[in-house]
Amino acid sequence: MKKYYITTPIYYVNDVPHIGHSYTTIIGDAISRFKKIMGYEVFYLTGTDEHGQKIEKSAKEKNISPIELADKVVERFKTLWGELNIDYNFFIRTTMDFHEKGVQKIFEKLLKQGDIYKGVYTGWYCVSCENYISDDAEEDSEGRKICPDCGRPTEKVSEDVYFFKLSSYQDKLLKFYEENPEFVIPEGRMNEVVSFVKGGLKDLSITRSTVKWGIRVPSDPEQTIYVWFDALHNYITGVGYGTDEEKFEKWWPADLHLIGKDILRFHAVYWPAFLMAAGLELPKKIIAHGWWLKDKKKMSKSIGNVLDPYLLIHNFGADALRYFLLREIPIGIDGNFSHEGFIHRVNSDLANDLGNLVNRVWGMAKKYFSSKIPACKGELYLENEYELLRKDYIDYFDKYQINRALERLWSFVGDLNRFIVEKEPWKLNKEGKSEEVSRILLSLVQAIRGIFSLVYPIMPDASEKVLKSIGVKDLPEREFKFNFSPVITDIKLEELPQLFPRVDKDEFFRENKEEDKKMGEEKEKIREERKYIKFEDFKKVEMVVAKILEVLEIEGADKLYRLKIDIGEEKREILAGIKQYYKPEELINKKIIVVKNLEPKKLRGFLSNGMLLAANINGKPVIPFLPDDVPCGSPMT
Ligand code: ME8
Ligand code: MG
Repeated sequence: MKKYYITTPIYYVNDVPHIGHSYTTIIGDAISRFKKIMGYEVFYLTGTDEHGQKIEKSAKEKNISPIELADKVVERFKTLWGELNIDYNFFIRTTMDFHEKGVQKIFEKLLKQGDIYKGVYTGWYCVSCENYISDDAEEDSEGRKICPDCGRPTEKVSEDVYFFKLSSYQDKLLKFYEENPEFVIPEGRMNEVVSFVKGGLKDLSITRSTVKWGIRVPSDPEQTIYVWFDALHNYITGVGYGTDEEKFEKWWPADLHLIGKDILRFHAVYWPAFLMAAGLELPKKIIAHGWWLKDKKKMSKSIGNVLDPYLLIHNFGADALRYFLLREIPIGIDGNFSHEGFIHRVNSDLANDLGNLVNRVWGMAKKYFSSKIPACKGELYLENEYELLRKDYIDYFDKYQINRALERLWSFVGDLNRFIVEKEPWKLNKEGKSEEVSRILLSLVQAIRGIFSLVYPIMPDASEKVLKSIGVKDLPEREFKFNFSPVITDIKLEELPQLFPRVDKDEFFRENKEEDKKMGEEKEKIREERKYIKFEDFKKVEMVVAKILEVLEIEGADKLYRLKIDIGEEKREILAGIKQYYKPEELINKKIIVVKNLEPKKLRGFLSNGMLLAANINGKPVIPFLPDDVPCGSPMT
């Protein structure tokens, strides 16, 4: 099987995860899902960068230890990735034991072979970028060098350190770039890298003696390995370097390192040089994407202009945020984020264009055929148009032009909306041309199936809903290619929940003030507290053992049973949606767990007085039965 190994940067744990981090991680997830559908076995790695002076300092300011800070922020990242439907294979933390060992192993190897030597570094250091600053940088009024990348004043340091012989890799790097002109995309960024290296490379300090929070040099434990040397190696330790050689052989070299343009030099110059020294293969490609700006400045914690992804996820859904970030700008260009722009785009593209298309088709199917569209011999409409779209879409995606792929897809959505207007199925229906109406609707359903297969890497939630409703079984490893026509069996459309809520702009702004849109420690804390319920709250839920006495069917209900149960102090009745999975004889006399004090609810004319507990396996209930001798009414605590 073809394989594809893709990575994100590992994020610093001093920051709250914001829309900028989400952007990179969403691109990575979309590419991973796309490659899987194209038949690749994929490994998607993300994680956190936890060592170094920046984290040491940040933890100190908060009066906690660096690892406490890291543990907390790691949870924040993982929670956000869960909310955004990020399907990564492994979350690496640089404080993991195997990573530390791997980095030490490489360091000692390079030391032994002479690529690393001891010396003295005197110069300037930017803690925020964890970067050494050259002597020709500009100075502020206090005589401190200004970091050319982030504009902050830097610190003067003078330390005994170890150096990496970067200077001796200049020619090798230039030769490599020449042979691999598309190593970095976009092209402009590749040119920047080449001219930087042509300008001459100095040896690079790769340890700190004044920083304690980091990986020790085994042969000289007073020295802490430079955080970038540490962090970059996550890309190999994360797939088994030093612990699982077979796994490492399988995945390395990476097919793609996705990064923001802020950290290009580390990835396109230092990292290849380290790998060359270690005798390892180089990654195949680096994509340096642009920045999301707010008020024309890069969104970043220190500027205080980072926007809250949860506000958008909770109002519009994860799909909408994923869609917007990928549709709005080409990878590589900066984008200015505004809530107006966001709301406009998702209302118009998602709620109006795509959402309405699906609603219209599902609505007509319900009206004309009670949602069961009869099969239809011969070719359908729209098949050629879909094939052309599919080809273009894949081509754009393969070139990482995801915004173009989406643009192309939406032009097809427009075509479908026009197709409906032109064909006027409502007229045909009145004229009794049922077969033609069926052909039109089947064509539309197949085209919509195609659309949601293609857009699945970007909007997995909506795609799953729609494809399930059509009855597509092989989720999520489906193919973009399927039998468009003929359709030889009827297509039954299941009821579809609303796909894309339309949000009123004015209302959104009324409800969410400027402050709400921003991200901050305070907000994270509130969120973390909300994740838990108090023990007293839990105790309010009364769960008891019950015995099923009778199982009754309800006329016309294919999912519900009426269960007469004994909960010790009394007998009562509950309703349970388990009919498709359990026969009455599998239930009678069994001991189950029910929530006793749930507000009674009327369903299908019967009152359900309590709720049965069951594991939910993708919608399929599995009931935990208790041993026969457990008395009815025993509380669960
Ligand atoms: O640099 N727009 O971590 P970091 C777009 N630990 N992308 C943004 C962004 C924005 N406004 N802000 C952040 C580090 N990003 C190192 C990486 S890798 C071996 C070590 C994204 O927490 C973008 O991908 O500062 C950027 O490169 C990354 O977050 C920087 O994350
Ligand atoms: Mg940064």
